[in-house]
Amino acid sequence: MGNRLKGKVAIVTGGGAGIGEAISKKFAKEGAMVVVAGFPEDPVEEVAKEIEEEGGTAIPFTADLSLLANAESCVQLAVKQYGKLDILINNAGTFPEVNLLSDFSEEAFDYLLKNNIRTAFAMSKAALPELQKTKGNIVCAGSESGALGIAQNAPYGGTKGFMHAFAKGLAAEQAQKGVRCNIVAPGPIDTGWTHKDTGPMDKQMEQMVTQGTLMGRRGTPEEVANVYLFLASDEASYVTGAIFPVDGGTLIAKGPAGDQAAQSMKVQPDGQLKLKHSKESHTSIRK
Ligand SMILES: NC(=O)c1ccc[n+]([C@@H]2O[C@H](COP(=O)([O-])OP(=O)(O)OC[C@H]3O[C@@H](n4cnc5c(N)ncnc54)[C@H](O)[C@@H]3O)[C@@H](O)[C@H]2O)c1
Repeated sequence: MGNRLKGKVAIVTGGGAGIGEAISKKFAKEGAMVVVAGFPEDPVEEVAKEIEEEGGTAIPFTADLSLLANAESCVQLAVKQYGKLDILINNAGTFPEVNLLSDFSEEAFDYLLKNNIRTAFAMSKAALPELQKTKGNIVCAGSESGALGIAQNAPYGGTKGFMHAFAKGLAAEQAQKGVRCNIVAPGPIDTGWTHKDTGPMDKQMEQMVTQGTLMGRRGTPEEVANVYLFLASDEASYVTGAIFPVDGGTLIAKGPAGDQAAQSMKVQPDGQLKLKHSKESHTSIRK
């Protein structure tokens, strides 16, 4: 157990799967009390239980967090259970469809707006009064696609561009209330989304995303969680409104640069966290 978040209370949205599982477990390992929040279908109860079994402190919360009333209940749970809220991680998001815009369904577009944008709005709105009391902070999930756009998923990249500007706007207005807000912008991460069995990508896209990194591989959820940890901790006390890419160099790669990466860079680190649900999420539309 470390102590970089000792005594802090954190909510992690989308905390039961993918990158969110790693953030929840990393934060708990560093002493935080964690509300693991997600859809009722997500393994949030399992993740909270696994954290407790490893000596950490966590509680599950399940609901559609894009609805303000549910977001408020989530914040109330954190305060009721642990007395305060220091950190909000706006990690929840979806990636329901890969298609040219001419074929992109209206249903998937609306699903993206609801889960990727509305959830961050509702959770931030609900959490800010508590974060202002503790001089806490928010970290939002952006994406390299929020800066570069993404072919065959232009609406998804658009939601991430929103997140970048939204988080910077919060940083700008909330500094006067003592609240920081930053963005983690992952590249292709080894979760359900970047595998054709659990996300909408085909084999060719899977190959292209790895070639498009300088390191010739996907990042691990734990490699992303490490950066969330820094930004959420007091170590980042002079960091606000910043976008931290965690993308293996995707933003500056030109062409299929990953093919030329050193073999040592292509190997994913083992990490320390016991992750069990990182590829579990099926990101197709839930009715
Ligand atoms: N995986 C990647 O390659 C990648 C790359 C860049 C950015 N990101 C961002 O990182 C975040 C996590 O991605 P991931 O790959 O771990 O996805 P994931 O699908 O494994 O996990 C996201 C979780 O959020 C939950 N969620 C979504 N909408 C919700 C809502 N309205 N209420 C409650 N729960 C909700 C999902 O059910 C899911 O469990 C997303 O915001 C995504 O945009 C991921």
